[in-house]
Amino acid sequence: MNNDKKIFGIAATFKTPDEIINAAKKVSSSGFTEFDVNTPYPVHGMDKAMKIKPSKLGFVTLVMGLSGASIALLFMYWTMSVDYPMVIGGKPFFALPAFIPVTFELTVLLATVSTVIAMIALFFRLPDNKHPLHDTDYMKSVSADKYGIVIESTDSKFDEKSVTDFLKNLNPLKIEIIYYPPEDSYPIFQPKFIIFLIVVAVLVSGGTYITLNKLLYTVPYNFMMDQDKLNPQKPSELFADGRGMRTPVEGTVARGFMPYPYTGQTNPPEVLANPYLPTKENLELGKSKFLTYCSPCHGNFADGDSRLRGQFPNPPTLHSTRARDFSDGMIYHIITNGQNVMPSYASQITREERWAVVNYIRVLQRAKNASDSDLIEMKKETGSNVTN
Ligand code: HEC
Repeated sequence: MNNDKKIFGIAATFKTPDEIINAAKKVSSSGFTEFDVNTPYPVHGMDKAMKIKPSKLGFVTLVMGLSGASIALLFMYWTMSVDYPMVIGGKPFFALPAFIPVTFELTVLLATVSTVIAMIALFFRLPDNKHPLHDTDYMKSVSADKYGIVIESTDSKFDEKSVTDFLKNLNPLKIEIIYYPPEDSYPIFQPKFIIFLIVVAVLVSGGTYITLNKLLYTVPYNFMMDQDKLNPQKPSELFADGRGMRTPVEGTVARGFMPYPYTGQTNPPEVLANPYLPTKENLELGKSKFLTYCSPCHGNFADGDSRLRGQFPNPPTLHSTRARDFSDGMIYHIITNGQNVMPSYASQITREERWAVVNYIRVLQRAKNASDSDLIEMKKETGSNVTN
């Protein structure tokens, strides 16, 4: 018995459950509050004998459950009604029925998790590796086949002599004084352990670095991300001139693209003939393209009444004899090549569309300068009595 040690409490062991219940009753009714009973299994009636008040753990559950509910509701209210209000299925921004599942989940989550944590950490004060009862003979016997009671030194009525006498009166098997364990320095702060930690850290990080940055790149590994390729805004590493693409071989023609050989010439050769018949579809295509690309300058009916109001020189009418006498190829050439101030439309309008526009211009021209034969044809067809 070392008298310089601090006493944690005085323990008494008993042989039967009846004796321990009796002892607990006596200890509690003598006014001790700081005491505990240790038995190998739960003994019925012990709570009453020890006069234990109901646990306050329920309050933790209640408070945390309520916080869970209000956090969920407030957060959903803030996101859905304040910060980013969005109409979903015509429901109000604060749609309570839709918020119930989340509220319920968060209530249960916070309540249960915090109850368990509070029970273990706050109420049981675990983990506790240095509890004075650890490793005592008392604890060894009460965790096997004996029943024990400890009156702790924190009790206001505690006095070594009187408590020992009091416990002796209860006729125990054994009385044991339990001391606080000596303060020992933590092994974690010992130099050996710190050096060990440093060595492990260096080895792990060095190993990771070498694996990820060197080992994985040794031949024969070839990673896709490491391949030669063209990165945007960077010179290519594949070709000597640093470009990602090669210039096509001279004379290369893109698929589906017909190069126009008469660019720059005033007149196209006569072989340039219209390959498209003025069918209904073709004329509709021509009309739509003419209205889109030509009408701003040439006017909807090719009268030369530009809508550009002097921003661009007015073109001549396409109903002049000159324009009516143009071959189809000539008009096609003007669209493709441009003429004086009129730019080329080859890049905007495809080859077929350009021929369709030519056909449509022919329709416009014929409509404004119908020949007698046209009118007779019309009279025949409609049966109306048209004269010129
Ligand atoms: C930006 C205005 C503009 C647009 C758009 C435009 N043209 Fe022209 N076009 C002109 C001008 C200006 C001239 C007269 C050029 C000149 O001085 O030789 C002209 C001349 C022509 C001529 C020759 C007329 C002649 O008597 O010499 C034809 C045919 C013609 N355009 C057809 C078209 C067709 C078809 C389109 C649509 C694909 C078109 N143009 C689109 C401005 C335009």
